Amino acid sequence: MVAQAPSSKKLFSVTLRVWRQADAKSPGKFVDYPAANVNPDMSFLELLDVVNDDLTRQGVEPIAFAHDCREGICGTCSCTINGKPHGPGKGIATCQTYMRSFRDGDVIVVEPFRAKAFPVQKDLITDRAAFDQIQQAGGFISVRTGAAPDANSIPVPKEDADLAMDAASCIGCGACVAACKNASAMLFVAAKVSQFALLPQGQPEREKRVLAMVAKMDELGFGNCTNQYECSAVCPKLISHDFIARMNREYVRALFVTKFTPTSHAAAGGAG
Ligand code: SF4
Ligand code: FES
Repeated sequence: MVAQAPSSKKLFSVTLRVWRQADAKSPGKFVDYPAANVNPDMSFLELLDVVNDDLTRQGVEPIAFAHDCREGICGTCSCTINGKPHGPGKGIATCQTYMRSFRDGDVIVVEPFRAKAFPVQKDLITDRAAFDQIQQAGGFISVRTGAAPDANSIPVPKEDADLAMDAASCIGCGACVAACKNASAMLFVAAKVSQFALLPQGQPEREKRVLAMVAKMDELGFGNCTNQYECSAVCPKLISHDFIARMNREYVRALFVTKFTPTSHAAAGGAG
């Protein structure tokens, strides 16, 4: 067995100032938790694990926080750190934030995402089912895809494929909503609309999709976009606000297409 060399990392101390809220109906408040011997290479979620171990040993209810993949792909680890959704880094989720981003003696303020459409369930956990409802309204294709087609049998321009891939990288975390002063979901919806609108498979429901998803977004209480771009600044996947402009074009196009396209008599039982 190889002996472990002593770590040369300088350990430090921070205070976590965490939002504690028993459930959706109870009032919440900030509570301070000092954390000593913090290794700079710990992830932020690992520090929460360590703090929770201590709380559990003391018989105190541990801090509830959502997490799954811990590698920036599932979008569940949504919390606001020092006023910024997903914390101080750029293009990363909370789970990819490391303690080396902080300094000895820092007071780190940790809150749930704040938005009317994302009610707090407990501590740092919010209910983001509103995003699921928007997806269910139209964020899918219903064409039969069958077996995997041969490569290049459906020609897609490289530029469109790249853009669709960028849009499809949205992990549905909700940081865009939490960062926006209007709690707008337009970056999320724009990404979902665009990934389909750019590809041949998304064409059959192209108009129906954007109209339905935007209507659902409005119905669920998300705000409008006023071009402040906080959304793309905090997005862990660096999704560009240009997609919002694309969605707006898609929306106007869909209004025209649905207004001026004759509908088939077949839908009403044939020409009779
Ligand atoms: S657009 Fe970005 S910030 Fe918004 S839900 Fe998708 S990944 Fe998260
Ligand atoms: S835990 Fe999955 S993205 Fe952070």
